[in-house]
Amino acid sequence: MRPVQVIAVSGGKGGVGKSNISVNLSIALAEMRRRVVLFDADLGLANIDVLLGLKATNTLADVLAGTHSLMDVLINGPSGIKIVPASSGVQRMAELSAAEHAGLINAFNELSDQVDVLVIDTAAGISDTVVSFVRAANEVIIVVCDEPSSITDAYALIKLLNKEYGMQRFRVIANMTRNAQEGTSMFNKLNTVCERFLDVTLQFVGQVPFDEEVRNAVRKQKALLEFAPSSKAAIAIRGLAQVVDKWPLPSGPSGRLEFFVERLLRAANDRY
Ligand SMILES: Nc1ncnc2c1ncn2[C@@H]1O[C@H](COP(=O)(O)OP(=O)(O)OP(=O)(O)O)[C@@H](O)[C@H]1O
Ligand SMILES: [Mg+2]
Repeated sequence: MRPVQVIAVSGGKGGVGKSNISVNLSIALAEMRRRVVLFDADLGLANIDVLLGLKATNTLADVLAGTHSLMDVLINGPSGIKIVPASSGVQRMAELSAAEHAGLINAFNELSDQVDVLVIDTAAGISDTVVSFVRAANEVIIVVCDEPSSITDAYALIKLLNKEYGMQRFRVIANMTRNAQEGTSMFNKLNTVCERFLDVTLQFVGQVPFDEEVRNAVRKQKALLEFAPSSKAAIAIRGLAQVVDKWPLPSGPSGRLEFFVERLLRAANDRY
């Protein structure tokens, strides 16, 4: 019974690169022979299926309805990653009947033995759904970029998670950086306010440079790592995956995926 690493990718602000980092980090980990499932927890329109030009016929909503198993709804992505198209299913998480609740836990229980890493791409903002997913994860990556409100939005998210839910450990990735120092300087800005006002530990994972190839890949509906595997941003993301791969795994039963789902449902229920 190997534990599953569950990583939520969040950031407060919209458009900072959460989805691109989730997708490409997942692919980079898969290239390292990890079995990766990418959970699309953004209810928005243009998300992972759009980013990758994939079409989901069924979603988590069908798993909840009991018409499909989780295995049925998984979509195959690049480099063998599997994608859980959650969409409307995510909204319903807080209102499950006892049977649906048990069904969902069973569904993830089955998946546990076939996954090493679960990456969760969250929506922008600090909605109840975002907070629930982040609270249920084992590791939280906060993506920031050099836009006026990125640091303040990231701070607002971290503050909420710390003050309301006692979360203390966060990892930070700086995206779309223009030079080698920008990532650390953004991190330092965020870290300074967090250390001053909150009881948290932030750890800088690294940076992804601004790279036109990311935009080109998005336009072509291909993952960057497939579309431009030797681009600057792709190389940076592979470097980040090496770091992520060394993070400690959850120990004990909490490392099983069914416990992730339990935490998620509990978090969802006490928010609504
Ligand atoms: N490293 C980068 N270099 C250049 N452009 C980038 C980079 N990362 C992301 N982008 C651009 O930013 C856009 C937004 O990225 P993405 O959709 O991943 O952000 P997001 O945080 O998931 O947004 P949302 O909050 O809407 O879900 C992409 O379409 C892409 O064009
Ligand atoms: Mg997104």
